[in-house]
Amino acid sequence: MATTQVERYSFDVVRWFTVMAVVYLVVGTLLGVYIASELAWPVLNFDLAELSFGRLRPLHTNAVIFAFGGCVLMATAFYSVQRTCGVRLWSDKLAWFTFWGWNLIIVGAVITLPLGLTSGKEYAELEWPLDIAIALVWIAYTVNFVMTVATRKTSHIYVSNWFFMGMMVMITYLHVVNSLAIPVGLWDSYSVFSGVQDAMIQWWWGHNAVGFYLTAGFLGIMYYFVPKQANRPIFSYRLSVIHFWALMFGYVWLGAHHLQYTALPDWTGSLGAAVSLAMIIPSWGGAINGMMTLSGAWDKLRDDYILRFLIMSLAFYAMSTFEGPVMSAKTVNALSHYTDWTVGHVHSGALGWVAMVASGAIYHMVEKLWDTRIYSPKLVNTHFWLATIGTVVYITAMWVSGIMQGMMWRMYDDNGVLLYTFAESVYEMHPYYAMRAIGGMIFWLGGAIMLYNVVMTIRQAAGRRVSAAVATA
Ligand code: HEM
Ligand code: HEM
Repeated sequence: MATTQVERYSFDVVRWFTVMAVVYLVVGTLLGVYIASELAWPVLNFDLAELSFGRLRPLHTNAVIFAFGGCVLMATAFYSVQRTCGVRLWSDKLAWFTFWGWNLIIVGAVITLPLGLTSGKEYAELEWPLDIAIALVWIAYTVNFVMTVATRKTSHIYVSNWFFMGMMVMITYLHVVNSLAIPVGLWDSYSVFSGVQDAMIQWWWGHNAVGFYLTAGFLGIMYYFVPKQANRPIFSYRLSVIHFWALMFGYVWLGAHHLQYTALPDWTGSLGAAVSLAMIIPSWGGAINGMMTLSGAWDKLRDDYILRFLIMSLAFYAMSTFEGPVMSAKTVNALSHYTDWTVGHVHSGALGWVAMVASGAIYHMVEKLWDTRIYSPKLVNTHFWLATIGTVVYITAMWVSGIMQGMMWRMYDDNGVLLYTFAESVYEMHPYYAMRAIGGMIFWLGGAIMLYNVVMTIRQAAGRRVSAAVATA
């Protein structure tokens, strides 16, 4: 690529991560639509173990969180660190090692998960050889990022880099501790923790995967791309620093809110709930800071469709970080736990916040990386509406089905006998599962349109370069 930017920064690896992120978004959400359809129409399991909901569900979560989310985090971190530090990546070799290593791990997941080779820990299903590979690749990513910051030409470290580094350090620590296991074969192992300790370590990882990976990392994205796309400085730099430290210190205490009313000591759940409630403050600090960056320039939203993605994502971020603390309160959790309400909460964060902020950042990067305008801004707008409508349909279906499930499971008659059997509650879920599958399809269609738009943008840029070369020849 013959632009000055590309000569100055190592962007080739960023381009590859960006394209793969879009591909994984389409594949991962397609898997989501498939498993959602299996819940609505179980015939889709086809009596095949490899296609069953139980095998494909972890493939979906790994595809969206680690394949899509990971490529987004790697693309955006490597892109923004070079721009904010005014230097090339510290090591191109390490960056390519990260790219190929991460993608090979994804291939490993695609083979092992449908075969049922899993450690059984949620969001940490992959077996020990792949866990070791994840640690190595993640450390390569971290070292490269930190060394790039260390060799920067700017005087201070821009706040997005703090968020990325916070995520990198904490995920290394969480992943390594939670994955400690004794192998008993190439694809089999036992966790070194047992019983209640195992559960506690697992959810310490589980919630912090949300807190540091899906939140701190994506806030790093927000802090770079919102001001850039809006062409305005961040509303309050001081607020960004305060809520960074509050998030870092707060999130690590929350894991036990996943284990209310279990064998864990009661006080751990109360502590988790108390800190969860307090987390509304730093979370909303970030959301307000991002939104207020547009203060006085809201009209930009009228025709800047990329900015629409970024700002709408903050609205969903605010919503899910209000809902989460509410769900952590013991009385609410007694109703919501084990129900679809949790799944609705997950996807208001995952679709509304994570996928939307990522889409905004991807569109922004594609224009800069290929030094062109997006092929069709109208299609960006179509994607925006499909993503918004799909998310709302999905989470509304889950709120209704979740609260209904919770209520049906706790209804007694005058003799103290449960009014509904579990099977009856499953039967009642059918319309909502169908509605969720439709919401998912709408969301997926938006992602497929994005893939088309990105491919056409790249082709348009390549075509222009060929004509320029012919003209100068
Ligand atoms: C078209 C879009 C999507 C659809 C239709 C979809 C569908 C589903 C379904 C049916 C489940 C299983 C729920 C259950 O066990 O009852 C699920 C779980 C999950 N999905 Fe998605 N998904 C989509 C996109 C995403 C994205 C983009 C992310 C993350 C960035 C994500 C993260 C998750 C997580 C973390 C779970 C586990 C939830 C839990 O254990 O409570 N999904 N998804
Ligand atoms: C202050 C912020 C947040 C708090 C306090 C919070 C709290 C909670 C609570 C209480 C649960 C249910 C636990 C249970 O009953 O098992 C939960 C589940 C979950 N939340 Fe959040 N949440 C927050 C933000 C988010 C965001 C922004 C996302 C996504 C990007 C997210 C993703 C998830 C996931 C994936 C689960 C399901 C875990 C599972 O059971 O598999 N949360 N959260």
